[in-house]
Amino acid sequence: MLLQQYFEVRSPQKLGVSEAKRDECLMQVNGKHYRTVWMEGSAVKMINQLLLPHKFEIAALATHKDTAAAIKNMTVRGAGAIGVSAGYAMAQAFLESSDLEYIENAKKHIESTRPTAQNLFYATNRVFNAAKNSAKQKETAMFQAQKIADEDAENCRKIGEYGSALIKDGAKIETHCNAGWLAFCDWGSALAPIYFAKRQGKKVFVYVDETRPRLQGMFLTSWELLNEGIEHRIIPDNAGAYFMSQGIDMMIVGADRIAANGDTANKIGTFEKAIVAREFGVPFYIAAPTTTFDLKCKTGKDIPIEERSEDEVLSVSELADDGIMKKVMLAPQNSHALNPAFDVTPAKYITGLITEKGIVKPNTVEIKRLS
Ligand code: MRU
Repeated sequence: MLLQQYFEVRSPQKLGVSEAKRDECLMQVNGKHYRTVWMEGSAVKMINQLLLPHKFEIAALATHKDTAAAIKNMTVRGAGAIGVSAGYAMAQAFLESSDLEYIENAKKHIESTRPTAQNLFYATNRVFNAAKNSAKQKETAMFQAQKIADEDAENCRKIGEYGSALIKDGAKIETHCNAGWLAFCDWGSALAPIYFAKRQGKKVFVYVDETRPRLQGMFLTSWELLNEGIEHRIIPDNAGAYFMSQGIDMMIVGADRIAANGDTANKIGTFEKAIVAREFGVPFYIAAPTTTFDLKCKTGKDIPIEERSEDEVLSVSELADDGIMKKVMLAPQNSHALNPAFDVTPAKYITGLITEKGIVKPNTVEIKRLS
C-alpha cells in the first residue's frame, strides 16, 4: 500500500494490454523465441552478439572459464545479460568442483571480467552465498542462477509496463547504446517501454545513437527494432543536439550501475546526451531493474569505470566474405586512443528512474524505498 502511494505505481491491468499480449515472449528471431542467454545441462548458451547483425549464431560455453571469457570479450554484453551469464558461470563453477577454494577463485575470476556492470556482482554473490553452505551445493547454485534469469526477464517486462505509460502515441524517442532484449534475458530495460507501447497500439519512432566505439546502437538496437517492426533511424553520435533541437519527445537509456543518490553510469556518451536533453527540455529517463542499483556507491564518483582497449577506437571490425570478423585499422599507425566504456550522468539531469517497482525520482530517499 505504502509503495502504491509513494511511487507512481500503475496496475498492469489498467495499462490496456491483454494477459496474452503481456506474456507474449518478445525476442523472436526468424519466428522462434530466444532468450539472450540460457543454460542447457552444464553448458551456458548465448546469442553471439559479436556477430550481430550480420550473423545469428549461438555460442556454447562448457566451463565457468569459457563463460567468463565470453563476458569479457563481449560475446554477451549489457548489464542484465552479463549478470545472468555471471550467475550461470558461478553455477558452472559449483558443478565443476565442491572445493570451496576453487569456487572462490572462480568467483574472483568471473568478477574480474567487467567492472562496471552491477548486475554481475549481484549475481555472483547471490549464487555463491546461497550455495556455499548448502547440503546440495550444485542443485542450489543451479536453482539460484535460473531464478536470477527468470527474475531478470520478469523485471524487464514490468519496466516495459510502467515505462509505456510515459509514451504518447506518435512519440519520437532517442536512445543510446543497447538496453534491449540483448542486454538482458528478454524484453530489455530502455527498449521495453517502447515494445510495450507498440503492443498498446501506439506509434513510436526511435532515434538510435550509433554508439561509438562498439556501435551497440547501430548493430544491436537497430536489429532489435527491425525484428519488432518499429520505425527508427540510426543517427551519428554527434547528431543528438541537432535532432533534439528539432523536437524529440523523450530520451530513454539503460544503466550499468546506479548510485544511492541516483547518479547513473551508462555507456560513454550518455552524460553528454543528458546535458543536451536538459538544454532542449527533453525528459531524460533511465530504465533499469533494482538489481542495477548499488547503494554501497553513495554517489557516481564511487562507481568504477571500465577502461577498454584503444583498439576499439582506432579500428573497426567487419564481417569478411569468408564469414570471419576482420579488424580494419582507421587511425594513423602511431596515434593512440583513450577508451572509457562508461560515463556517469549526475542525478540532476535525470527526470526519472523506471524500475520494476515503479517510476521514482533519482534521489536518495526514493531510491532507498526501492530496496
Ligand atoms: O559495454 P556494454 O555493451 O556491456 O554496455 C552496456 C550497455 O549496453 C549500455 O551501457 C546500456 O545502456 C546499459 S546495459 C542494460
